[in-house]
Amino acid sequence: MADNGGKKAQLTIDGKTVDLPVMSGTLGPDVIDVGKLTGEGYFTYDPGFVSTASCESAITYIDGGAGVLLHRGYPIDQLAEHSNYLELCYLLLNGELPSQDEYAVFADTIKRHTMVHEQLVHLFRGFRRDAHPMAIMCGVTGALSAFYHDSMDIADETQRRITAHRLIAKMPTLAAMSYKYALGQPFMYPRNDLDYAENFLHMMFGTPCEDYEVNPVIAKAMDRIFLLHADHEQNASTSTVRLAGSTGANPYACIAAGIAALWGPAHGGANEAVLNMLDEIGDEKNIDKYVKKAKDKDDPFRIMGFGHRVYKNYDPRAKVMQETCREVLEELGTEDSPVLRMAQRLEKIALEDEYFVEKKLYPNVDFYSGIILKAIGIPTEMFTVIFATGRTPGWIAHWNEMISGSYKIGRPRQLYTGPQQRDYVPFGKR
Ligand code: SDX
Repeated sequence: MADNGGKKAQLTIDGKTVDLPVMSGTLGPDVIDVGKLTGEGYFTYDPGFVSTASCESAITYIDGGAGVLLHRGYPIDQLAEHSNYLELCYLLLNGELPSQDEYAVFADTIKRHTMVHEQLVHLFRGFRRDAHPMAIMCGVTGALSAFYHDSMDIADETQRRITAHRLIAKMPTLAAMSYKYALGQPFMYPRNDLDYAENFLHMMFGTPCEDYEVNPVIAKAMDRIFLLHADHEQNASTSTVRLAGSTGANPYACIAAGIAALWGPAHGGANEAVLNMLDEIGDEKNIDKYVKKAKDKDDPFRIMGFGHRVYKNYDPRAKVMQETCREVLEELGTEDSPVLRMAQRLEKIALEDEYFVEKKLYPNVDFYSGIILKAIGIPTEMFTVIFATGRTPGWIAHWNEMISGSYKIGRPRQLYTGPQQRDYVPFGKR
């Protein structure tokens, strides 16, 4: 972070003025370092961290007003058009695009970590068949730490790199296993002759009874869905991974914490919630009624897949996702699907309605992803598992950026509004 050449903010409280240093990054707003306020007897107060920069990071930059998303400086739309998910994983982890040889070595390394320990299969058996796959993912991802005692020294850069490779490689395998377990079908082993997205689709939809032909259009869409979810600055789940990591917890436990945070419908659970919402609306003729409910402050109903803490303009990922949605539905011959028609009508109404315009609510990455996944044949309860799989390189890149630098344990304070100190009252006197 660059010190802003001595630029400072001044805070005057009860007649006393405190100088606070102002720091500048490469892009985006300057930040005011409020670290010394505790010594002046004050905390800052910012529920939901709307105006708080929790850390310094060089991985991803978002300009919510301009609808810009950069990964290590590269715009998401260029990465979606010219790159692929594994190359983006390399970029997020290493900071630069790989050479042809570096990419080949990275892709081969990831392939050779895609299998999971056979003992993990027994862990799956402990779940009911109707367990939500996110419950399984929380459990089995955290359990991975029980299998790699040889590489748990977070101070060792080589062990951190091996862990990053293992997590990126194994998440699709675990995700597919959570799906197969629900179906009662046998787990499919990964295949080293397939690329990342092809391998995932093979493990999801293949069976030992016959060869599974991967549809290249679907595989490309799957790769793009992973790519669009790979990282997104200090979102709730990434901040959870950083907070867990700041205690020195092992990376598998930190990623499991990130998966748990992502599960919420206000965050990564939104893609599943979008499809559930469209099912609830049921028919285009009901859309106006539901838009009215979404605008009613006393009604908890919200249009899932709409709105964003940072994007007060179109989510650049949503544009790419919408194009991918059209490609997939065309390939599958379902471009006039009622669900897509309803989503497009809902989007049109919402984008013209003054409530949504005034509150700057636009479709986010989750609005179209669920429609694509449903068209591919992935059940709604698996949508957030796909999101978690895609987000893993982002989580691990942020974890590594923090652990490889200087960091303190995250420990926010509070505004206490409870009772004043009082003495204990025995039963007979209450
Ligand atoms: C993701 O942070 C990230 O980067 C997340 C993510 C990532 O890649 O990691 O981008 C992924 O989580 C995308 C968001 C997915 N969530 C949803 O689609 C759920 C629906 N959206 C909302 O819950 C909401 O928009 C949030 C949670 C996404 C953002 O919440 P904020 O920033 O705290 O904003 P807010 O809830 O205060 O909303 C501002 C206003 C409110 O009205 P007022 O209180 O000001 O009168 O807009 C209203 C809200 O009531 N509003 C909506 C709405 N979203 C916000 N009204 C109707 N429908 C909606 N979807």
